[in-house]
Amino acid sequence: MVDLKSQYENIKGEIDAAIHEVIDSTAFINGPSVQQFQKDMEAYLGVKHVIPCANGTDALQVSMMALGLKPGDEVITTSFTFIATAEVIALLGLTPVVVDVDPDTFNIDPLAIERAITSRTKAIVPVHLFGQCADMDAIMDIAKKHNLYVIEDACQAIGADYIFKDGTTKKAGTIAQIGCTSFFPSKNLGCYGDGGAIFTNDDELAKQLRVVVNHGMTVRYYHDYIGVNSRLDSIQAAILKVKLQYLDDYASKRNKAAAYYDKAFENHPTLKTPVHFPQSTHVFHQYTLVLDGVDRAGLIAHLGTKNVPAMIYYPVPLHMQKAYLDPRYKEGDFPVTEHLCKNVISLPMHTELDEEQLELITSSILEFVNR
Ligand SMILES: Cc1ncc(COP(=O)(O)O)c(C=O)c1O
Repeated sequence: MVDLKSQYENIKGEIDAAIHEVIDSTAFINGPSVQQFQKDMEAYLGVKHVIPCANGTDALQVSMMALGLKPGDEVITTSFTFIATAEVIALLGLTPVVVDVDPDTFNIDPLAIERAITSRTKAIVPVHLFGQCADMDAIMDIAKKHNLYVIEDACQAIGADYIFKDGTTKKAGTIAQIGCTSFFPSKNLGCYGDGGAIFTNDDELAKQLRVVVNHGMTVRYYHDYIGVNSRLDSIQAAILKVKLQYLDDYASKRNKAAAYYDKAFENHPTLKTPVHFPQSTHVFHQYTLVLDGVDRAGLIAHLGTKNVPAMIYYPVPLHMQKAYLDPRYKEGDFPVTEHLCKNVISLPMHTELDEEQLELITSSILEFVNR
């Protein structure tokens, strides 16, 4: 699905030098590369504070801790996402409230958010799924009206631009009080291990986020809060500092591959190509088709015979996951998500896809669906 080896080989000199510099310095934790990457990322995003941490899951958990959310508080999120989004809500003893998504963008449906708000609702966690932003105009309006926090899960959309209805733009993850991202290797900005970051423009919140990621420590060995240990290590920061320079180029390569797929499947009666939400650019973390009446397992098996990988993101809606079964929800409650889980398929998507590979992938799919 991704080709990290070719991507590394194209920037090997810079990456190897950056890693060696950290090893030479032996400043493995909180070394200068962490502060340098943080500054570069703040400039790239146009945000006041970037707080590096150990992974995207921690970024979400730390955000909820720093906001002071308490057991019993309800947090509204999408039924169609990677489990981490809901996991941290449950781990903190908060109550996940799940809502359905828009069938075109796969992102959380603002009308469904509004219907799910109760007196206990404290926060909304929209996920910018597969690389394009959720409807942040509507979500921020709802949050303002009901006095709720918004934490953007931008783990899949780093670098995407949100275009507000008034024409102004902001980077994904910098629109709400807090944004979170993951630097998992296969992410659009991936390191060579685990990594993550939190974004905010709020000085006080930034202070609290830095306290929470560092054992709740305000003054060395004085712990005023219960925190966690969540650090981005210096080697990962050095790698990310190099790769950040290529992020926009990587996004345009992903868009080029997506355009090839779009054209190959244009107006196909059984393949629905990704719908572009006009309020967001797309950074194509995933290129996901919705199948109509196609035997998905058969298609994946057919692609396997041609050495073409394909993945299902995600096969099970949040409310149907065994660990998250809840008497509040049953099968049929979130029909859009349930339909997507049964019919989506994601194709190889990365920065090194060449025309020969794209031709093999698209012709193999068309061969199966046109049978
Ligand atoms: C939408 C979403 N949220 C959260 C995460 C968690 O990130 P991480 O794997 O770095 O913990 C991921 C990625 O894995 C993700 O795709």
